[in-house]
Amino acid sequence: MIKAITGTKDILPDQIARWHYLEMIVSYIMECFNYKEIRTPVFEETSLFARGIGEATDIVSKEMYTFIDRSETSVTLKPEMTASVVRALNEHSLDKKQGLNKLYYISPMFRQERPQAGRYRQFHQFGAEAIGSDNPALDAEMIVIAYDILKSLGLNDLTVKINSLGVPVSRENYKNILREYLTPHLKNLSEDSQKRFETNILRIFDSKAENDQKIMEDAPLLIEHLDDNSLENFEKVKQILLHAQIPFEIDPKLVRGLDYYTHTTFEILSGSVGSQSALCGGGRYDGLSEQLGGTAIPGVGFAAGIERILLACENEKSLDLPTESIDLYLVRLDKELQNAAYNLSLILRRNDLVVELDYLQRSVKAQMREANKFNAKYVLFIGGEEYERNEVVLKNMSDGEQQNINLEDLSTIISKIIGE
Ligand code: HAM
Repeated sequence: MIKAITGTKDILPDQIARWHYLEMIVSYIMECFNYKEIRTPVFEETSLFARGIGEATDIVSKEMYTFIDRSETSVTLKPEMTASVVRALNEHSLDKKQGLNKLYYISPMFRQERPQAGRYRQFHQFGAEAIGSDNPALDAEMIVIAYDILKSLGLNDLTVKINSLGVPVSRENYKNILREYLTPHLKNLSEDSQKRFETNILRIFDSKAENDQKIMEDAPLLIEHLDDNSLENFEKVKQILLHAQIPFEIDPKLVRGLDYYTHTTFEILSGSVGSQSALCGGGRYDGLSEQLGGTAIPGVGFAAGIERILLACENEKSLDLPTESIDLYLVRLDKELQNAAYNLSLILRRNDLVVELDYLQRSVKAQMREANKFNAKYVLFIGGEEYERNEVVLKNMSDGEQQNINLEDLSTIISKIIGE
């Protein structure tokens, strides 16, 4: 048998209630903050991500699913949504219709990473982007939304880390300071970090190599070299978070894996999912739209990994979803009544009841087993003497009470069950 591709996962029916619940919470909270859903294509021109996320990032240099299609265009399965949302905003001039666009999404993403628990090659994110304002209140709003969603899913073992990367000018100056500090240590850095020294020096803070970490302990920090305006913005973000009762830590070494960030960056980590602990990440990206050839328009956003969040929910046993049940199982006592039973089920289903019946010509006993398996609230027996009298028998499965109902009174059944 052909199997699913490494790093991809089927979401089977026994898991889907958890996905639906999470999606419902996401849409509900996003809409309370007046964010509107946006859906963009699964694939885009490769240059959108190369330019948006940055050529030197791991995502662009190692992880993208890129291929040449039949019209010789290089296309890429989206590894993230921010670049796509900014493209869509510019393409449809949404910024001309509305000063501030507040958008959210729930979508699959694709990155060819080494699969492990909480890390997949097709995974799903929900996220939000507020594009059109540089107000730090929106930076804080992103953290509040993300945190509120995670709390609504019952998660407790959470750490919010925030940092500011300031504006590009101060960051470029700082990179020179960091380069100066690292130059004498260069040959002691891991091979990866030596490469990053040339291509993406800030990411050396992310190195897992013990010796790199030791060297970085004493490295000068960007936050100590920010301009006054950036510090002031960061202060405002912190004040709003305090007011919103979001516990947070400042992590001056928090550098994110995408190049477009300016000012605030943040991550929310879980202590209950093992090494892939970042449940969500985001930040401000004031230069991205221009970088992509659009109008200069500031933005801020975040995205969260649904698989990781559901793993955290499982480990913290935080989702206590009700056992699934159906309203009614129709048990056919005589084989010849197959059509009659089906017609009856149709009337009930078209009256909004969740109804199941046997399609496999099973015995009455087997049909009852199915009714129990589906947790049917009621069983409706069709057949026997009652049916000859134009009646069916309704059994309440919780108290065993039975009632004969004339087929003409089918609406009684419906109102009885719906009325519960
Ligand atoms: P990101 O940090 O690359 O940011 O991804 C956000 C979240 O997606 C991560 O914290 C993680 O939970 C999840 N994730 C990432 N890669 C994988 C994977 N291979 N398997 C499972 N889950 C994964 C972004 O994508 C930015 N677009 C966030 C953003 C929006 N910044 C501003 N606006």
